Amino acid sequence: MNRHERRKLGKRGGVAAPPAPRAAGRATAISDFLLAQAGQGEIAVSLDGIGPVKADPLAAAAAAQRRSAELLAEVARLEGGLAASPDPASALVQLARLHLELKAPERALACYVRALEIAPERRELAHSIAALGGAEAPDRCSDAYVRDLFDRFARTFDDTLGHWLDYRAPEALRALVDRALPTGRGGLDIVDLGCGTGLSGRAFRTLAARLDGIDLSPGMLAKARARKLYDDLFEGEIVAALAGRPQRYDLAIATDVLIYIGDLAPLFAVTRAALCPAGLFGLSIEAAEADGFVLTPSGRYAHGDGYVRATATAAGFDLALTETTALRTEDGKPVAGRLYAFRKSS
Ligand SMILES: C[S@@+](CC[C@H](N)C(=O)[O-])C[C@H]1O[C@@H](n2cnc3c(N)ncnc32)[C@H](O)[C@@H]1O
Repeated sequence: MNRHERRKLGKRGGVAAPPAPRAAGRATAISDFLLAQAGQGEIAVSLDGIGPVKADPLAAAAAAQRRSAELLAEVARLEGGLAASPDPASALVQLARLHLELKAPERALACYVRALEIAPERRELAHSIAALGGAEAPDRCSDAYVRDLFDRFARTFDDTLGHWLDYRAPEALRALVDRALPTGRGGLDIVDLGCGTGLSGRAFRTLAARLDGIDLSPGMLAKARARKLYDDLFEGEIVAALAGRPQRYDLAIATDVLIYIGDLAPLFAVTRAALCPAGLFGLSIEAAEADGFVLTPSGRYAHGDGYVRATATAAGFDLALTETTALRTEDGKPVAGRLYAFRKSS
């Protein structure tokens, strides 16, 4: 099977239920985050102000209709202003997001392609184009895409993920790692790969003598710094940043990060080198139905269990523990994931 095979557009789709009025601000933050992953409108989130709505279907349908009308009006306004726009590339990106929410991925793709033609320096758009099937899927998200995405969402990330999407991967991974460690083991040197704002750092701090974090996004790192959990924070791409740190850590963790990396071989190789003998690598993935890895229309990668195990083994890890998990909630439904604890083989 072609490891770059994409899921059919719309596979992850949900019915776009617009937010109840009192939840509008929250829903905007959440859907902005999800849509912006590749500008995907296929993922929609409904809220009643606290969590996923158990909505009255008639009220939800009426609200969905109102939302569609609003979106179409906004499309018409933006299209009308395009010729005179001082920043047509940004207007086209906005249009793409609207088309996605309107479940018109082909139109969204055309907007992204035009935006990149107008503004070739906006390299992050190439990833959205690939995610929508307009180009060959890359082996991982570009640094520019990750930085652009997370710098924009750093401010609202904790609220969006932590509270409203019921993000539970850090605590679930901590529980798995605890089971993989010898009883009573603590005082570890830990590196948090793709540490973000520090949600995983918070879950693992009590296990650490030293906790370092690596992330591409200065915005996310600023939030992590403010938590005062980390001994050191490094700005950079994980593979490059870890390369100069041989046998430094007892434990490496990567929570909700491998969804931005397709080909895991380079990551496993540098992580193994950065671990002390018998060191552990705890990670989460979004589960792919097929094996290999796929770039989904969301702009995120999903990985098959067989692929993860085989890649880890080839890099010199033994599987200690694995389990399926719900990583977070999207559109009121759990997102299927898998957690692993690998041990560096001797
Ligand atoms: C969804 S967030 C998860 C953050 C944190 N691990 C958590 O569990 O809350 C993904 C983070 O990984 C970072 N990231 C993604 N790919 C990366 C890469 N190749 N190198 C460094 N950081 C990366 C992003 O900047 C972002 O902060």
